[in-house]
Amino acid sequence: MNFSSRAVFFQSNSSSYKKHNQESLRPVIAVTMATSRQGSSVVRHLSKNGIFRIRAITRSPFSKRAELLAKLPNVEIVQGDLLEPESLERAFSGVYGIFGNTTPTKGWIFGRGSMVRDYEIEQGRNLVDVVKKLADLGTLKHFVFSSVCKPKDPLKSQPAPGHFTSKWSIEEYILINGLNKLSTILRPVSYFENFDSDLPGVQISQSSFPGVVHKDKAWQTIAVDDVGLWTRAVFENPQKFWGESMNIAGEEMTGQEMAALWQKINAKDSTSVRYSMVPRKLINFIEHDIALMASWIERAGYGADLKALKVLADELGITMTPLSCWLREKISSGNTQKRLPNIDLQRKFVTAT
Ligand SMILES: NC(=O)c1ccc[n+]([C@@H]2O[C@H](COP(=O)([O-])OP(=O)(O)OC[C@H]3O[C@@H](n4cnc5c(N)ncnc54)[C@H](OP(=O)(O)O)[C@@H]3O)[C@@H](O)[C@H]2O)c1
Repeated sequence: MNFSSRAVFFQSNSSSYKKHNQESLRPVIAVTMATSRQGSSVVRHLSKNGIFRIRAITRSPFSKRAELLAKLPNVEIVQGDLLEPESLERAFSGVYGIFGNTTPTKGWIFGRGSMVRDYEIEQGRNLVDVVKKLADLGTLKHFVFSSVCKPKDPLKSQPAPGHFTSKWSIEEYILINGLNKLSTILRPVSYFENFDSDLPGVQISQSSFPGVVHKDKAWQTIAVDDVGLWTRAVFENPQKFWGESMNIAGEEMTGQEMAALWQKINAKDSTSVRYSMVPRKLINFIEHDIALMASWIERAGYGADLKALKVLADELGITMTPLSCWLREKISSGNTQKRLPNIDLQRKFVTAT
């Protein structure tokens, strides 16, 4: 592993700094939106590393989710709001690295839905402006921005959903601010977790597997936990990842194939599992941008290179989560077990077969 000069110092002296418990000298990584699905997976994976201290940023430090994160080793909770640049400056002060994430979700309004492109753009601008200040000061060494996967066929990318183009615009803002050399862009595809959402009819059941994409169209998906896995690998190997951008995915399957997989894994009886596509008109009514995303996935498609990712993962010694493992875990956790939304800090996957 290679780190900045500061981090190399800590690595080469790892036994002595542990011995003397020089907590304050360990490089700090700030994680924005730490209570989110992505953010919490990043905090969880980084907290296991033992080299970094993690500053988990949330607007509500005393929320249940923040309290859960605070129980992890090497984690401190810090108040910060992506809409308030001063709070970011405070939260990022003196950090070695930043995991930056933004959200388009503003709150649902009839006729508009919940996703607002400008809301995410404002967060991205604030985030990158503070990153730029810290980079100019020379204190920040590594910025990881979590965007969203680019298209497999760029010539069919239009129209793209607003909550995708917002992230790609923030990527451009990173570039024009000259931050490329200290940045890494990770671009995850849709989460497995979307198959088991709180929306009516969008849950995996004994007889159905839900999705927003046509049953015959292959699309790429990822366990949200793997965003944390990749982020940790990126922070642990800065020389390899500085200046890089990477689409990340764990699977590419059609809805029908996923339903068949679920049937095979959950074959308690002869009930056949049906892939149930949420009607596009309904999605369009509830959340226009998600309907746009579904059409985009069918037309342009997520463009992660699964073979290259597997080679890289092997090289880094990391194991991505197959959908089969995620589904088995669902069964082993009792299927109906209620968890805090978006967070499963004790998560353990059953072995892949
Ligand atoms: N769903 C998918 O399949 C998928 C795939 C790829 C990428 N993404 C993208 O990943 C991002 C995160 O999604 P997610 O599902 O992981 O998030 P999530 O679980 O819905 O959580 C959203 C988080 O945003 C935080 N937040 C909201 N407004 C904020 C603000 N102004 N400042 C700071 N924090 C704020 C909230 O934390 P506090 O209330 O604690 O502050 C909350 O924990 C989104 O941009 C999404 O588009 C999603």
